[in-house]
Amino acid sequence: MSALDTRPEDAFASDRQYVFHSWSAQGALNPTVVAGAEGSYFWTADGTRYRDFSSQLVNVNIGHQHPKMLEAIKAQVDRLCTVAPFHTNDARSEAARLIVEAANQKGGEHFRQVFFTNGGAEAAENAIRMARLHTGRHKVLTTYRSYHGGTAGAITLTGDPRRWPSEPGIPGTVKFWGPYPYRSAFHSTSEREEAERALAHLADVLMVEGPHTVAAIALETVVGTNGILVPPPGYLAGVRALCDQHGIVMICDEVMAGFARCGEWFAWQHWGVQPDLICFAKGVNSGYLPLGGVVISEAIASTFKDRVYPGGLTYSGHPLACASAVASINIFKEEGIVEHARMLGNDVIGPGLEKLQANHPSVGDVRGLGVFWAIELVRNRETREPYVPFNAAGADNAPMVEFVGACKQRGLWPFTHFNRTHVVPPCTASVDEVEAGLAILDEALTVADRYVTG
Ligand SMILES: Cc1ncc(COP(=O)(O)O)c(C=O)c1O
Repeated sequence: MSALDTRPEDAFASDRQYVFHSWSAQGALNPTVVAGAEGSYFWTADGTRYRDFSSQLVNVNIGHQHPKMLEAIKAQVDRLCTVAPFHTNDARSEAARLIVEAANQKGGEHFRQVFFTNGGAEAAENAIRMARLHTGRHKVLTTYRSYHGGTAGAITLTGDPRRWPSEPGIPGTVKFWGPYPYRSAFHSTSEREEAERALAHLADVLMVEGPHTVAAIALETVVGTNGILVPPPGYLAGVRALCDQHGIVMICDEVMAGFARCGEWFAWQHWGVQPDLICFAKGVNSGYLPLGGVVISEAIASTFKDRVYPGGLTYSGHPLACASAVASINIFKEEGIVEHARMLGNDVIGPGLEKLQANHPSVGDVRGLGVFWAIELVRNRETREPYVPFNAAGADNAPMVEFVGACKQRGLWPFTHFNRTHVVPPCTASVDEVEAGLAILDEALTVADRYVTG
């Protein structure tokens, strides 16, 4: 009997008995059995259909079951499923060429090579290893509002509470505050002030840490799960200048923000600031197969020209995963997906969320770009008291659970984190699909409005 003959109730029972899930108390789980998916939708065995306003884990940028992706993966299955990483393989070579080309698309040859991994956390691990060896220094600075992955180094780089149970983690990491105009750590009253003060704070942190001990500053270019925090104008350029001043490697974590999510191939292209290393995963092939990696600039690539790079993975540059990346990048170009994502942000989601904010007192802030947006929910617009507390669980989080329920009842699967719901459908979603999803959010927000006190 093939796995496909398994009845949904048996799949559920085996899951509960044998599958150990991420980030969960295993006994409390009641996972949805997904039977299929297409485009901007997925459905369960009992026929319940959801608009996927989460793109699963903000990774299915190209939409579910894109026919050309399926065709390319099937063709590669027949050609060659796997080879050792030390052999050359055409799928891997072409994926690397296309990714470097996308990184250099606004000119120059700053980026040279790609080190492939299985996902985002391994990209972070290898990026900091490269930065440390390149500079001969050990400290890595990251922001409190960030997520970089679940492995030992990546979870220590992470700022959000998922880090706490893994502490003390790896040595040599230091946290600082990035910009967040709506809840400024610097009491700023404008984006300009926020950029200036966040940079002054970072310069101070560098001063007291000793800039000559700092190998890298690693940032999510646009912070994803921790809030869709779009850097104010001038911030990334200021970070670049501090890195240049002190010989520090600038790492942009584009695992969530890259590959059309922000209406660019890479989000940093929006501000014209080039990092030294780019971490990618998710949208590179929309998770059709596990793939991630690090795009390496000329200066760092040259460090390892004659010197051994002490890292590797059996599946680095896996042919099946790389063939799906090649297919995905080519489909992005043929179908204008980067441009479509930019248009959705400018013409549909941005204006749509402003309307929701005008209609719902529970909406404190809306922000984002491309197909990467957050609605921040509050109890009170004046005080900005969050709809649920930071890292809320149990009874404290019940209002958020109610909001999620209201979305799901109406056939929309949301992506929520703390007191926010993110608007992150596939980058291929049509205008009608996005508008229909926003109409559902409009209804569901009436649930959140009931908790407004001010
Ligand atoms: C910004 C960012 N970096 C890294 C990761 C880790 O990626 P992975 O789960 O593929 O290891 C994630 C995952 O959500 C992410 O959002």
